[in-house]
Amino acid sequence: MSITIAPSLLSANFGEISAEIQRVHQAGCAWIHLDVMDGSFVRPITFGAVALKNFKKPAGVIFDAHLMVVNPERHLEDFVKAGVDSITVHAEATEHLHYVVQQIKNYGIKAAVALNPATPLAVLDWVYPDLDMVLLMAVNPGWGGQKLIPTVYKKIEELAQKFKAWGISIPIQVDGGVNRETIGEIVAAGATNLVAGSAVFGNASTIEAYRENIQKLLQAANLE
Ligand code: DX5
Ligand code: ZN
Repeated sequence: MSITIAPSLLSANFGEISAEIQRVHQAGCAWIHLDVMDGSFVRPITFGAVALKNFKKPAGVIFDAHLMVVNPERHLEDFVKAGVDSITVHAEATEHLHYVVQQIKNYGIKAAVALNPATPLAVLDWVYPDLDMVLLMAVNPGWGGQKLIPTVYKKIEELAQKFKAWGISIPIQVDGGVNRETIGEIVAAGATNLVAGSAVFGNASTIEAYRENIQKLLQAANLE
């Protein structure tokens, strides 16, 4: 499976969000990670579907909504209407994970489940056939720029083994602390979709700088 770098807009300039999307797209990324935080599942509040529907999506770009919200089942329709291509819900945020995944699939978009660092992989055992991706958090959700929790490497390997046993081949997305120091080991463990906020946007603000940051990540993963 090819490797995807998914810039997380959490570290972008929210004052010019559509321009930021355009810049990372021109810098080579076609997958945009949208961190939705509700102030309850995690302390910060970012944006919801009302704001998101005004984000300009360049042709061919995937909008991947990472919902860090309680009871995500209440909000699915709004995000679908806002134009996202994929919705990721946290296993910890709903009593009805199987139902929520079904709801997302019924809307005809991609469904993914996210697991916090302490959440066991076993919660996937009875929902995996409907999943298009699994997100493993490598930090506790809520903030960008945190340090990766190293136990995630083994968790990625174990998830890759489970996929093999189940006979499925879907992306393992890793979110949090992905940078030039960690990306090599993350990819070696079996992840193929790497969310990167601070490592892409950092203190930069131009297409050229974003392109360089993305290239450096790929180089560090020995992919270029
Ligand atoms: C954290 C978010 C991440 C965040 C990652 O809760 O889910 O997507 O933006 O930020 P970095 O890449 O800076 O660790
Ligand atoms: Zn995220």
